[in-house]
Amino acid sequence: MTHSLWVEKYRPSTMDTYIGNEHLKSKVSIYLESGDLPHLLLFGKAGTGKTTLAKLLVKNIECDYLYINASDETGVDNVRNKVKSFASTIGFKDLKIIILDECDYISPNAQAALRNVMEIFSKHCRFILTCNYVERIIDPIQSRCQSFQIIPPSKSDVAKHLHSILIKENIMDSIEDIKVLVDTGYPDIRRVINSAQRNVVNGKLKLDTSSIITFISLKPIVEAKFLTLVLTVSTLFSSEALIYK
Ligand SMILES: Nc1ncnc2c1ncn2[C@@H]1O[C@H](COP(=O)(O)OP(=O)(O)O)[C@@H](O)[C@H]1O
Ligand SMILES: [Mg+2]
Repeated sequence: MTHSLWVEKYRPSTMDTYIGNEHLKSKVSIYLESGDLPHLLLFGKAGTGKTTLAKLLVKNIECDYLYINASDETGVDNVRNKVKSFASTIGFKDLKIIILDECDYISPNAQAALRNVMEIFSKHCRFILTCNYVERIIDPIQSRCQSFQIIPPSKSDVAKHLHSILIKENIMDSIEDIKVLVDTGYPDIRRVINSAQRNVVNGKLKLDTSSIITFISLKPIVEAKFLTLVLTVSTLFSSEALIYK
């Protein structure tokens, strides 16, 4: 199924297309090569690639997996029941991975209960937890996980990424508009991509600046010049290899 929402359509499913976080990527690649991983706790700001990385991992490792968004669930019993029934049934693969997305929505008491479930099933199950606020995750869970902070890719990387999406969608853009979108939404990549898609009119990116301008932080001219240069070079060569460099 192709997604009509760009954030989903262009959600990276391989390490090559996941931008930024080079240090983290080299560590995570080791898990992909070995086909196994420790419990992981991915934390960082909204829209910077936590869920994307969790999903990318389960897709690229031989495993059965279960995705639970903690913020959608009505109570920890629900979460525990889902985890228990998934973890205790015989699967197709040796390894099971449970993504518990947005774990900071789970209360500390409920987290303590989850910790027991993690313990019971840890022989065949790995957990990938994600959250915005790592300080909201109780210590006993943190200490059982390998924690990784997701650092937002640089503004110029996000701009290049957006530019490449626009090229694939055959949308005419302007460097200035891309800069406005990145400045407004950064570091939230989801917001940057969503705003771009919302502002496409008849195959052209056309910003309604009156609604955006109030949010723009005034950035030094130097930064604008640098971004313009990067994007111009990318456009000139118009090769993905260069865009992702
Ligand atoms: N490192 C990345 N490389 C490329 N696109 C990304 C990256 N991180 C996020 N995105 C884009 O932003 C969207 C939101 O990312 P997501 O992983 O859901 O954020 P969150 O950190 O809130 O879980 C994704 O669907 C994807 O399109
Ligand atoms: Mg997420």
